[in-house]
Amino acid sequence: MSSAEGLKFTIHPHPNATPAARRAELMADPAFGRVATDHMVVVKYKDGVGWHDAEVLPRGPITLDPSAAVLHYAQEIFEGMKAFRTKDGGAAIFRPEANARRFRASAERMAMPQIPEELFLEAVNQLVRADRDWIPEGENASLYIRPFMFANDAFLGVKPASEYLFMVIASPVGAYFSAGAVTVWVSETYTRAAPGGTGAAKCGGNYAASLLAQAEAKAQGCDQVVFLDAVKHTDVEEMGGMNVFFVFEDGSLVTPPLSGTILPGITRDSVITLAREKGLTVREEAYSIEQWLADARSGRMTEAFACGTAAAISPIGVVKTREGEARIGSGTAAGQITGALRTALVDTQRGRSADAHGWVSQVF
Ligand code: PLP
Ligand code: COI
Repeated sequence: MSSAEGLKFTIHPHPNATPAARRAELMADPAFGRVATDHMVVVKYKDGVGWHDAEVLPRGPITLDPSAAVLHYAQEIFEGMKAFRTKDGGAAIFRPEANARRFRASAERMAMPQIPEELFLEAVNQLVRADRDWIPEGENASLYIRPFMFANDAFLGVKPASEYLFMVIASPVGAYFSAGAVTVWVSETYTRAAPGGTGAAKCGGNYAASLLAQAEAKAQGCDQVVFLDAVKHTDVEEMGGMNVFFVFEDGSLVTPPLSGTILPGITRDSVITLAREKGLTVREEAYSIEQWLADARSGRMTEAFACGTAAAISPIGVVKTREGEARIGSGTAAGQITGALRTALVDTQRGRSADAHGWVSQVF
């Protein structure tokens, strides 16, 4: 047992954990999100009782009443974070406090209870410890951790639920995109989030609404969708699951501002810090799709990249719209600044460079 906020975690080790040989086979080429580890964390919440029954359990199906509120009104939020294998055989998580804070902000927007930061962090650490053998080695490999919470009331009235489950699951992952630069499709049909909406919250509904736009991108032969703002339909916001940065010939960077309609990415924030430390100018300002095409074509834009927990930093090689397409830089590989920022980020995450910002949290 261990405790966070006075709550004790009861640990039920998997009685039939995946044998080492099978685990090694699964981890050899895990792709993204297909392989499940042996355990999961469950913490319950009920109005009037608060957070209770914190458990580490063998991973398995959960039972819900068919009227569970999440199935009807989508009161659900999640986080995405990674644990990395460090040189000494230990494990470290990148900026987990930032995920805990964003989870609380998402909960507030979705009228859900805010889990104490300490309990969120302890739940994540408990799972990483229970599944310590599932953290892969290798340059692009890590343990992707997915904390989430949903409304569990068996009641069909439309109101904030009074019962919730907070859970944490994990999956060993490799690179999100296969090697090389990604191609992006700018959707002029669908928007992701409007002012006053839920764009800044990491709620499942935002992703459900993005799937058709992502399918449109695939149909256009692209890897990812890019959304424009929902009012003027001119300014670049973000991608389906990543923030976006542009690099110009003078070495400066631009990224769309946190206007309330995009997710405040933790990788985005880290990139801004790392770039400024390298003496680069970073502007958080609106940038239109028209300008993107013009700058890519004129050569004023030399690089562009997507960034997020799953994708780390991935170069964008080509941007496509209904009007036409433009290649950025070589169109195939990461440019110099993208590469340098990726190295700085990944080296910090993996404990290969000094942790100047206190971003790395050692689990064991
Ligand atoms: N934007 C969206 C819509 C995302 O889903 C993500 C991924 O979590 C990001 C941006 C990047 O956020 P982070 O860097 O915190 O993973
Ligand atoms: C993440 O990077 O954690 C996300 O949530 C985005 C998604 C591509 C899984």
